[in-house]
Amino acid sequence: MEPAQRERTPFSDIDGLPTEMSTMVLDALIEMGRHPEIRRVRRAGFDALRPALGARLLDAGSGNGDVARELAAEVGPRGEVIALDQSAALTAAAIAQHDDSNVDYVTGDVTALDLPDDSVDGVWCERVLQHVEDPDRAIAELRRVTRPGGRICLVDTDWESLLFDGMPTKLQKTLMTYVGGHFLPPGRDMGRTLRRRLVAAGLNSLTATPVTCLFGSPDSAGVVLPMVNPRVPADAWHTPPALRDEWLTEVAAAGARGDFLAVLTIWVVAGTV
Ligand SMILES: C[S@@+](CC[C@H](N)C(=O)[O-])C[C@H]1O[C@@H](n2cnc3c(N)ncnc32)[C@H](O)[C@@H]1O
Repeated sequence: MEPAQRERTPFSDIDGLPTEMSTMVLDALIEMGRHPEIRRVRRAGFDALRPALGARLLDAGSGNGDVARELAAEVGPRGEVIALDQSAALTAAAIAQHDDSNVDYVTGDVTALDLPDDSVDGVWCERVLQHVEDPDRAIAELRRVTRPGGRICLVDTDWESLLFDGMPTKLQKTLMTYVGGHFLPPGRDMGRTLRRRLVAAGLNSLTATPVTCLFGSPDSAGVVLPMVNPRVPADAWHTPPALRDEWLTEVAAAGARGDFLAVLTIWVVAGTV
């Protein structure tokens, strides 16, 4: 992918976006976290991480902090969670939503963590590495800060698994060649590469679970898939306007007929340090 395209991926640099866009991104993150299919992915992830009572966990790339607060409930009053995100705007938004959970919110870069070696018992890192320039460096950092015996759970999308039905196939292919560079992050295959990356990083007791999300209507899909969401501003598409309009018309028609379908696999991969 061209560097210019990397810079345009919204989740790579949320603080660099106009306020209106960063607010949209925050709202989208909150909505995504409530989607039943994302809830299903997270349940698989919690099973893989096995957070223990009293544990000190790191949520790396914590977004609006919802998962960090859920993890805090898992580790109980004697445990704690560090919610770390690169974006100052998202960290501020996460702090604004703070309840009485034992969560400490910090800004930081997952590829250069300001944490001592062996300082956490486990790590959660959801849909972050697809946006990071050097994901293996991030994994090395996550490993460095996790104590021996601690568990790291990575959750990431395989954007190349995204398939639709209900809209004309040729239109779908044309649309994807245009929108891929903007809507989709640099690491489009990140999900299915996670297991290999954890093998290379020397983790053991690996588990790898592909969770295929099913979206049976445009409204449901639009929460997770920007290219079927008509609320995404037209100038964010980088497609000929006629192509966007034709695609969204077909998406709406499939929705009205009841035969719209989209599938996307998100991987949950965990290992022990
Ligand atoms: C798609 S969001 C996922 C947020 C959250 N994990 C969730 O699942 O709701 C990606 C997050 O990664 C953060 N991020 C991107 N690059 C990062 C980096 N190098 N270090 C820390 N966070 C990063 C973004 O600011 C954003 O909050």
